[in-house]
Amino acid sequence: MLFSIVYITQKNQESAKKSIMEKSHENEHPIKAFGWAARDTSGVLSPLNFSRRETGEKDVQFKVMYCGICHTDLHQIKNEWGITKYPIIPGHEIVGVVTEVGNKVDKFKIGDKIGVGYLVGSCNECENCTNDLENYCPGQVLTANGTHSDGTITHGGYSDLMVVNEHFIVRWPDNLPMEAAPLLCAGVTTYSPLRYYGLDKPGMHIGVVGLGGLGHMAVKFAKAFGTKVTVISTSISKKDEAIERLGADSFLVSRDPEQMQAAGGSLDGIIDTVSAVHPIFPLLNLLKTNGKLVMVGAPEKPLELPVFPLLLGRKLVGGSAIGGVKEVQEMVNFAEKHNITPDVEVVPMEYVNRAVERLVKSDVKYRFVLDIGNTLKKS
Ligand SMILES: *[C@@H]1O[C@H](CO)[C@@H](O)[C@H](O)[C@H]1NC(C)=O
Ligand SMILES: *[C@@H]1O[C@H](CO)[C@@H](O)[C@H](O)[C@H]1NC(C)=O
Ligand SMILES: *[C@@H]1O[C@H](CO)[C@@H](O)[C@H](O)[C@H]1NC(C)=O
Ligand SMILES: [Zn+2]
Ligand SMILES: [Zn+2]
Repeated sequence: MLFSIVYITQKNQESAKKSIMEKSHENEHPIKAFGWAARDTSGVLSPLNFSRRETGEKDVQFKVMYCGICHTDLHQIKNEWGITKYPIIPGHEIVGVVTEVGNKVDKFKIGDKIGVGYLVGSCNECENCTNDLENYCPGQVLTANGTHSDGTITHGGYSDLMVVNEHFIVRWPDNLPMEAAPLLCAGVTTYSPLRYYGLDKPGMHIGVVGLGGLGHMAVKFAKAFGTKVTVISTSISKKDEAIERLGADSFLVSRDPEQMQAAGGSLDGIIDTVSAVHPIFPLLNLLKTNGKLVMVGAPEKPLELPVFPLLLGRKLVGGSAIGGVKEVQEMVNFAEKHNITPDVEVVPMEYVNRAVERLVKSDVKYRFVLDIGNTLKKS
């Protein structure tokens, strides 16, 4: 008897402790939400009850239907950049259907298909923001593991519902499949530099380095702009795929100096999607006079930059990161018009940990997309 009383008291204390611990996620906001979160650096995702803010006057609430799994999600869940706050619900390639709108929302109505990418907020005032370049705003709020102005942490698209300011939402075109969610990050990351650096003129010859999530989108957009496309990869094994599956015109093995030399001076621009440290001299050598090498991958260590090849040919090395909201809208409209979709493997929510393991090994063509709308089950 005594024993069982003690036991019950302990149990009550434990559950009281537990509810205090969980309070911040479950009760900090009024709307109950459910998603999959990583709790520690193992990066293993598991179900989490949390909460979303009330739909504010300029907010749109929506049901998440599909969410892509991006490499950035891997860095975040494993805290590889040392800056993640746990628990983290990742996901920033999100397509959904509107379920509620605030009374000052004029762009969207209930039932609309919409998309949300890397950002859910910015300062709205700086020079970047006023030029539709929220993606370069120092005050940007990331969709996952960002910090809202009220100090709370953002939770991404591996979840049942979201509440986002309408400014950061794009209209999802009717004839674009909702599974094409990776356009919202991988897509715009390659579309934006092709446009901004003027590498979108028919007849130009564009190189794409690396054939993964980003690279395969770069090939598709460059082809749609009417350019000739050469894929540059360390491995000959990707040749058939690049040419037959993705429609590239030619292929270069970057480890074959003879091939690289023979193709010297042939490209107007290169989109370099590789995130590992790699030599860039051979790439600069591929450029014509006035050619541009644009980096969109993010090697963790500095690359060596040989200057002579830049001088002798007025060449340029640049960079680019995702795109502003206006450009994301333009990009999805373009994708609809030209039938451009990422190659995806759609998987159920419970498959997420396996998908993450396979993504680490690049064992996917070319992006996983979680079918959240049909498979996220409350548990
Ligand atoms: C979430 O909350 C529901 C209802 O309170 C509960 O049944 C479920 O076990 C919870 N799930 C998790 C993962 O905590
Ligand atoms: C996670 O949040 C912290 C704090 O807001 C931020 O500094 C960091 O950039 C975020 N991490 C990632 C991987 O985005
Ligand atoms: C615009 O973006 C750049 C790059 O992120 C940043 O250095 C600069 O401070 C921003 N400009 C303003 C006015 O905030
Ligand atoms: Zn991404
Ligand atoms: Zn700003």
